[in-house]
Amino acid sequence: MSVLVTGGAGYIGSITVRDLLKNKKKVIVIDNLTNGYLDALDKDAVFYKGNVGDKNLLRRIIDENNITSCIHFSAFAYVGESVKEPKKYFQNNVSQTINLLDVLIENEINKFVFSSTCSTYGEPKYLPIDEKHPQNPTNPYGWSKFMVERILSSYDDAYGLKFVALRYFNASGADEELGERHDPETHLIPLILQVAQGKKEYISIYGDDYPTPDGTAIRDYIHVSDLSQAHILALEYLFNGGKSEFFNLGNGDGYSVKQVVETAEKVIGKTIKSKIEPKRDGDPSKLVANSQKARNVLGWKPKYSQLEKIIETAWKWQKDKN
Ligand SMILES: NC(=O)c1ccc[n+]([C@@H]2O[C@H](COP(=O)([O-])OP(=O)(O)OC[C@H]3O[C@@H](n4cnc5c(N)ncnc54)[C@H](O)[C@@H]3O)[C@@H](O)[C@H]2O)c1
Repeated sequence: MSVLVTGGAGYIGSITVRDLLKNKKKVIVIDNLTNGYLDALDKDAVFYKGNVGDKNLLRRIIDENNITSCIHFSAFAYVGESVKEPKKYFQNNVSQTINLLDVLIENEINKFVFSSTCSTYGEPKYLPIDEKHPQNPTNPYGWSKFMVERILSSYDDAYGLKFVALRYFNASGADEELGERHDPETHLIPLILQVAQGKKEYISIYGDDYPTPDGTAIRDYIHVSDLSQAHILALEYLFNGGKSEFFNLGNGDGYSVKQVVETAEKVIGKTIKSKIEPKRDGDPSKLVANSQKARNVLGWKPKYSQLEKIIETAWKWQKDKN
């Protein structure tokens, strides 16, 4: 019995693949390496290079391996880019996912874990955001994930697909071996670390007139190893007969961009130069999670609740590997 992991050479995917293997799961990865790295992929995973929407390749992978479940990480995930190039996002994140689902259903593989996002909520009506919060995304990336959530619900009703959609807040941090390496990097913590290493001159702070105490946007940072743990629990939940569900994954603490910079300065022991720039299209002011449901239903217990610890792991990885 194997699990098919799409996007397993990416940031969150590669760490989850390694943790699945540690949990004695057989792992088959499909990734086209547009944003992933082969050197991040554990040697014990079986790797197929290709598009997740390539039905013939998917059928071959299923023929060659005894796949009983799928964790679907692969997607494009740049909010700003999605505003400028929505067709790229709907094509890759929605159309390709439909092809993947069709082949899974055709082969009676009906356990599916999906990387969704807090971007499906849009501008919050209340905080912290729980799973019942209305979903009204403010950018095409968020809409693409929202559409897949709706498709999954319909596929459960019609074809009995059992899924867990995990709505991550801001993935961050690293473990001993693997960390965040997006290119271009748009995530705050790795960008701050690049400034600390002298690879970038300053960090851009997009907007300082949000309705927040210091005017900069507030986000909830969740450690990548805690995300990985949630995927393993989600699979167990589905194999134990769990019904289709949506779960938030965050720490429940919000930090403003300025607070993240200040915390990083403490961890690193250096001043981080920053510059205020115009707000980016599609960026909500505050996103903070209520993740009680994942704790209650999945038994999820995040280990990294403090931002300082999260940044420490990211900084250690960045220094060691780069
Ligand atoms: N990083 C975050 O903070 C965050 C937050 C919420 C949700 N997510 C979601 O989590 C998932 C993983 O995010 P990540 O940060 O690890 O991104 P990532 O870019 O590092 O990983 C995505 C992987 O998918 C691959 N890929 C993309 N399109 C593909 C396709 N059509 N066929 C095959 N492979 C393809 C890429 O090459 C890459 O290896 C994404 O779905 C993202 O939307 C991420």
